[in-house]
Amino acid sequence: VRETGVLFFIFGATGDLASRKLFPAIYSLFKEGKLSDKFAVIGLARRERSREQFHEDVLRSIQEFARYKASPDDPEWGRFVEHFEYMSLDINRVEAFNELNIAAERLEEQFGIAGNRLFYLALAPDLFGSVAHNLKAGGLLQTAGWHRLVIEKPFGFDLPSAEKLNKEIREVFEEHEVYRIDHYLGKEMVQNIDVIRFANAFFEPLWNNKYIANIQITLGETVGVEDRGGYYDHSGALRDMGQNHMLQMVAMMAMEPPSRLHPEDIHDEKVKVLRSLRPFTSAEDVRKHVIRGQYTEGQANGRPLPGYRSEDKVNPDSTTETYFAAKVYVDNFRWAGVPFYIRTGKRLPVKTTEVVVEFKNMPKNVYHGRKTGLEPNLLVFRVQPMEGIYIKINAKRPGSEGVIVPVAMDFCQSCQVGLNTPEAYERLLFDAARGDSTYFTRWDEVALAWQYVDQIASAWAEDASDLRMYPAGSWGPEEAQALLEQDGFHWWPVNGQQESEVV
Ligand code: BG6
Repeated sequence: VRETGVLFFIFGATGDLASRKLFPAIYSLFKEGKLSDKFAVIGLARRERSREQFHEDVLRSIQEFARYKASPDDPEWGRFVEHFEYMSLDINRVEAFNELNIAAERLEEQFGIAGNRLFYLALAPDLFGSVAHNLKAGGLLQTAGWHRLVIEKPFGFDLPSAEKLNKEIREVFEEHEVYRIDHYLGKEMVQNIDVIRFANAFFEPLWNNKYIANIQITLGETVGVEDRGGYYDHSGALRDMGQNHMLQMVAMMAMEPPSRLHPEDIHDEKVKVLRSLRPFTSAEDVRKHVIRGQYTEGQANGRPLPGYRSEDKVNPDSTTETYFAAKVYVDNFRWAGVPFYIRTGKRLPVKTTEVVVEFKNMPKNVYHGRKTGLEPNLLVFRVQPMEGIYIKINAKRPGSEGVIVPVAMDFCQSCQVGLNTPEAYERLLFDAARGDSTYFTRWDEVALAWQYVDQIASAWAEDASDLRMYPAGSWGPEEAQALLEQDGFHWWPVNGQQESEVV
């Protein structure tokens, strides 16, 4: 990237994602010297905006959301924003793309960029196909450098719509040129899963159905649907979080060690996991293994919270799920019989993402008759808000007559290096610019994830009588507890609220 440069095309430059994530990410890359002077950004949207107005937008976004502060009087800021241009674009007009190409060539010449073009579509997915076609028709893919398309979710609504979308894109771009964002894969601790697994003799030998009782993935959010009621009511938690972030984490936890740390090898291993997901045998089977819920009125910190059905742009009779919990099986040799419990919801009591590995119990016969608090060993990946690894082991309570208590070893990464580590979008944008697709999703992963999720969605579409209500601010429907209890397990508390004596 530093040598041959890159030209970023941000479609949807006046939108929320650009201002919250993309401009701040580009600024961090610039501040950290990951971009040389050979870069430029063209912001594109329908709205008319002058270059100066656009620069003000970028400044505001960085002042509000970036890790590094910027001030208009700082000469470095001036050097940065010099690289930003804006063009109002009607994405349905090929001529507009011809003009865009001319503007792009000018910028490439000005900044010494060797024709490398990264097209970031922060747009509604139904526009992806026509933008891709017009990029080609407008001559934007005829440079000497590389061309990459970065797209956001949702990638389709189900398998058929995802296939259609993929076909449109692939008429123009090769698979290796398409970077499908799953921003969870950009999170520090999700990227740490393979390192913790494959670089530690402690864990990998135990990473199978002989020693692991179950794996739990919790992705809790305190927010409701905010101003996305229109999108969300159509989508629901399963499609919004399950098809992508959650199944991707299952794949990262369950995959075999790849033969090389090459993106394609990693994708291959993840695909094998997704292909091994146990299919459901009937709608009844779905109901047995997947619980769905929707929040009703409730409260958090003494503040009343509205129910989902009275949120803006939500159908007042909506049966869309804002919560789901599922028992997923990866039917392969390593994982036979080990349940992966996954749950996510809006309006839960805490914002958290955690992956808990619960190990099988040791035989207790040696401690027979002793006062023991023997508990299963846990390994917890704390993805957010605090990043770290937590291990729970059993030890003798100091000074006691052999009383056994659970103790914790807590590696709080964010306490040591601060929360100021690169943000997911920063990493992903940089990876896309340098051509590393490891933490993006390949088409076959996306397709298999849809195939799995579609079985649930179609069972749900038949009959909504299993939709459970939960008050906003609670941990979701009780049935989600029963899902584990019937197997003799329970959800472990999140955010270090584990019962243990910290050493
Ligand atoms: C997005 C979902 O993919 O992830 C949102 O569409 C959700 O509904 C968000 O709020 C959560 O991301 P994060 O990074 O805040 O955990």
